[in-house]
Amino acid sequence: MARIAGVSLGTASNVLNNPEVVAGPTRRRVQEAIAKTGFVRSTAAHQLRVGRSLTVGVVLLDLANPFFGEMVRGAEGVLRDKGYVLMVCSSDESVDQERRYLRALEEHRVDGLLITPVERDLKGLVALSARGVPTVLLDRDPGGLGLCSVTVDDVRGGELAAGHLLELGHRRVGFVNGPLSIRQCADRRTGAKRAFRWAGLRPEDGLVEVTVPALTVDHGEEAVRELLAKKPRLTAVMCANDLLALGVLRGLAGAGVAVPGDMALVGYDDVAFASMLSPPLSSVRQPKYELGASAATLLLEEASEGAHEHRSVRFEPELVVRASTGSALRTVAGSRYRKARAGARPQSTGAVEGT
Ligand code: RIB
Repeated sequence: MARIAGVSLGTASNVLNNPEVVAGPTRRRVQEAIAKTGFVRSTAAHQLRVGRSLTVGVVLLDLANPFFGEMVRGAEGVLRDKGYVLMVCSSDESVDQERRYLRALEEHRVDGLLITPVERDLKGLVALSARGVPTVLLDRDPGGLGLCSVTVDDVRGGELAAGHLLELGHRRVGFVNGPLSIRQCADRRTGAKRAFRWAGLRPEDGLVEVTVPALTVDHGEEAVRELLAKKPRLTAVMCANDLLALGVLRGLAGAGVAVPGDMALVGYDDVAFASMLSPPLSSVRQPKYELGASAATLLLEEASEGAHEHRSVRFEPELVVRASTGSALRTVAGSRYRKARAGARPQSTGAVEGT
């Protein structure tokens, strides 16, 4: 291409990497030669020269879950402007698959990694970071280890979902949750139990858990049979994410159970489809786009700073109330919960009317 343009390899390289230092007519001649020959730069060669691949690896739990897609969009919005390309992988909640992707991404010499880890033990990621791959945890607390992270207060989120149902007068609440080995599921359960205690109720009496192997639509639908078999009957269900809630909604419809008339329903994440369901789904909104954008910003800080101090950014969830939880009843336990919550956290109720 350089020969066709009649310039040196150095000038052709400058047109690709620092076009501002090449005179206009020369730059245009090289660009015409690129167009004419269909030249595409070799990333491997580029990375050897500058030691950077301008790629960032992203490993998520389940790419079929729109929660993660929205998070990736947030990260991409920040990284794209800096010339980075994302290599996005789904661990599908498999430790072995996660490890395979981490090895492959390191071999591709990614410049950084964003990950929602399956593995509880984060020492491997700390070692990866120490080998020169800046790593930021997405939606996972580092537990005191030397990694940057962005998280949402899932204990608060679980408490908001269960507290909302208690305020509506429900006393027998089903909770469709994933394995407690998934930190998000464990924290949401902790929050739901806190809401019952704040309402002066025993969680063991009123919070009826149904554990599913993975947070998918099918597992939500399969959980309905067990939910409907509970005695005394349940009048409300909260789900660990919106995919489960969609499956529960589908299963209840198949069983002729009306939402919210016979059963109130709350999801978690407030993904795009939540407001489009019939009835529109009440859900605990996570700031998905902001989580991804914030993680990417932390990654760029770590990659560019010599002496970097790891940071953990924490976001607050908010309850989005829509038709799937019906109208409010004023009950003694509901007002006890409201008073306890107000006393514990002097902030907004965390509830917004759903759009
Ligand atoms: O992957 C399971 C869940 O954890 C997602 O739906 C989202 O809620 C994340 O926090």
